[in-house]
Amino acid sequence: MAGGFWLALLIGIVGLLLSLILNHFMPLLILLRQGHMIPRGSFGWPISGETLGFLQPHPSKSLGAFLQDHCSRYGKVFRSHLFFSPTVVSCDQELNYFILQNEGKLFQCSYPKPIHGILGSVSMLVAVGDTHKRLRNAALSLVSITKSKPEFLNDIEGIAIQILDSWKDKKQVMFCEEARKFTFNVIVKQVLGLTPADPKTAKILEDFRTFMKGLISLPLYVPGTPYAKAVQARSRISSTVQAIIEERRRNAGSLTRKSSDFLEILLGVDTLSEEEKVSFVLDSLLGGYETTSLLMSMVVHFLGHSPTALEQLKVEHQNVRSMKEQDDYLNWEDYRKMEFTQDVINEALRYGNVVKFVHRKALRDVKFRDYLIPSGWKVLPVFTAVHLDSSMHANSLRFYPWRWETQDQTSKKFTPFGGGSRCCPGSELAKVEVAFFLHYLVRSFRWRPESIEEPMAYPFVEFSKGLLLNLDHCSI
Ligand code: HEM
Repeated sequence: MAGGFWLALLIGIVGLLLSLILNHFMPLLILLRQGHMIPRGSFGWPISGETLGFLQPHPSKSLGAFLQDHCSRYGKVFRSHLFFSPTVVSCDQELNYFILQNEGKLFQCSYPKPIHGILGSVSMLVAVGDTHKRLRNAALSLVSITKSKPEFLNDIEGIAIQILDSWKDKKQVMFCEEARKFTFNVIVKQVLGLTPADPKTAKILEDFRTFMKGLISLPLYVPGTPYAKAVQARSRISSTVQAIIEERRRNAGSLTRKSSDFLEILLGVDTLSEEEKVSFVLDSLLGGYETTSLLMSMVVHFLGHSPTALEQLKVEHQNVRSMKEQDDYLNWEDYRKMEFTQDVINEALRYGNVVKFVHRKALRDVKFRDYLIPSGWKVLPVFTAVHLDSSMHANSLRFYPWRWETQDQTSKKFTPFGGGSRCCPGSELAKVEVAFFLHYLVRSFRWRPESIEEPMAYPFVEFSKGLLLNLDHCSI
């Protein structure tokens, strides 16, 4: 009896393994269709494929051993098996562009399922089709209305001054932490109208940190795991946002001054459901927090190794300030004058690679050049590969902001904010935040990193020691 049980179990396990292995390699049966070949490459191990190799950490200003090895063996477009799916990886500028421009037609945004579990089904970052269109239209009109209000820039500047004031008596700061504080306070003010001193800001920040940890953790919904904690944290943030919305509605009839934040406008949008409005707020916080603070850290890190660029930046900001009264607020015209600052920001985006790649899937069989990308396969356009390609950017492995004096930042070979119909709606907010922070930073401080530290792509990018800086104060 017992022997029969074990035999059945063994047959079951062997059957399961065989079917997993067959499923893994089955897609290779369609190597050739109508004269078009699936790109060369390797599927790696059954089930996990080559995912572990692909996720091996490497400095974000490099391609990493996996991509380097695969590109030299198979070319810039190759097949692999990643995130449990047959995949075409593209390190090719033209294919990347083609993928981004054909969103919703030939390709579709397709983030791994566990990310949906945390973000929720109506998050703009994962939504597709009409839902995505509605959310995105609301986002674009919100961004454009908010940008036209003077408070938008004044708030950014005020928060930068506040953070740098708190450094007055410090000899060292953990820069990544300070940058996160800055971008979080800015986005919470822009979206919800909350000041850094408001207790709700601290509460949202605490939940947000838990949420972010879960986003990059093993997707195990078991109580106590970072993933489960993140799902719970998301639900708490939703409740806090919901409570703020209700409070706004209650006060809507009173004579108090109208707020100028996203939420005020969002409440009047009738194309979004209540759930979508709450999710929209979360997307803005998520999109605008880590990425922008990481960009700030990269700028500060690269400038620390480029004294000439730092000096030129300082002169630019002194010139901008010399044309204003000491306490005058910065405006869009000042921002436009910060030309070298924008070159530095663009170069940090190219060389530092805040976002390494995005997730897509093929909606049907797609033919590109001689390649066939089969329907249903995952497709990963890798931005880092194009940004560091020396045939696209001369001396690509060098931080050289002056290249942007002649190079077009809207070109297809520079896509730090993605492209096509999913291009980042917050790109300008991110850049203006960094520029205004630098306006005060470079005129007030000199800095030296405490230790040698590179931004690493895990593939989400991080300074693992937090970028500890030694500060020297200099007068404005
Ligand atoms: C350095 C800063 C930033 C970088 C590098 C960045 C990068 C990106 C990239 C690459 C995408 C495209 C994702 C895809 O195609 O799948 C994206 C989308 C998005 N970003 Fe950003 N972002 C930044 C700042 C911001 C800010 C400040 C906000 C919000 C205020 C924001 C909100 C969003 C949203 C909502 C989307 C989804 C757009 C859509 O699917 O239509 N991002 N971002």
